Amino acid sequence: MALALCTALGAFGQTTTKANVVVLATGGTIAGAGASAANSATYQAAKVPVEKLIAGVPELADIANVRGEQVFQIASESFTNEKLITLGKRVAALAKDPGVDGIVITHGTDTLEETSFFLTLVVHTDKPIVVVGSMRPGTAMSADGTLNLYDAVVVAADKESRGKGVLIAMNDDILSGRDAGKRINIKTNAFGSQWGALGSVVEGKTYWFRAPVKRHTMASEFDIEKIDTLPMVSIVYGSGEMGTAMAEAAGKAGAKAIIHAGTGNGSVPNYEVETLRKLRADGVQIVRSARVPDGFVLRNSEQPDDKYDWVVAHDLNPQKAKILAALALTRTSDTKELQRIFWTY
Ligand code: DGL
Repeated sequence: MALALCTALGAFGQTTTKANVVVLATGGTIAGAGASAANSATYQAAKVPVEKLIAGVPELADIANVRGEQVFQIASESFTNEKLITLGKRVAALAKDPGVDGIVITHGTDTLEETSFFLTLVVHTDKPIVVVGSMRPGTAMSADGTLNLYDAVVVAADKESRGKGVLIAMNDDILSGRDAGKRINIKTNAFGSQWGALGSVVEGKTYWFRAPVKRHTMASEFDIEKIDTLPMVSIVYGSGEMGTAMAEAAGKAGAKAIIHAGTGNGSVPNYEVETLRKLRADGVQIVRSARVPDGFVLRNSEQPDDKYDWVVAHDLNPQKAKILAALALTRTSDTKELQRIFWTY
């Protein structure tokens, strides 16, 4: 009797039942294929189906009960708001399933940071949701996708991953889906955050050192179940001699907000200020972000945001600010409320 009990409970008194993890595949390089093993950067993304991705890492079975779903098969630069919403609704539905303990999303790395931030803002669950990609296709020498996928499933199966918001597993790092992004475009250590990793995965074990402090998932005021479309938000990239045509065109195209990816601390050229003020007067929200990767934009520093009725993006880069602005505009068009939202998430 004692032996049976011990076997059933496992040697350390833990149950031997493994976590149930669902892999939602969307495409990208992790599903890519190149012409030869020497092609680590020249390949076709979004070719390998999810079943093959899972079969390519038999060790996953040691960690969790894993099954796959092919949601899309696209390169992530081709993601649209519609695809973000479709993915978000599928993730939310799976998170509600008591038979699902964790979710992994395989994704192209180009817009992985937007998807991770979007999901952490709209999916109400404390179950682990882990987004993963790769910088090399599986056909390349020293491909990184198999270990990244293994790490992602380890994180998704780990109870300690719960309640930390959407996570990114890349290159042995566990990163926050809120503030991590692609910082290098041709190396396997491509992803990082100016605020550092939350932890690491080594040989199938997670090591945690930090947890996010910004609101996310269960504490978010945004709910994917109440979102079916997102308003148009445009990013205008700041530079010397940037002219006013891009901001004017965004306004004409119907942008409800313009993210100004300013030089320095979100600076705006004097000739651009009048254009942005006119757009604000026409009802377009103006959000000052920065083209500089690290730091954060100070309110009323480079520009009198109070006077102009503008918003600052805090530490969010332009592409993340675009996601938050679009979601915020589904709930309010009040500038003070928008600014609160940018301080909060
Ligand atoms: N086309 C890019 C994408 O799907 C390839 C980059 C990658 O996935 O690593 O994001």
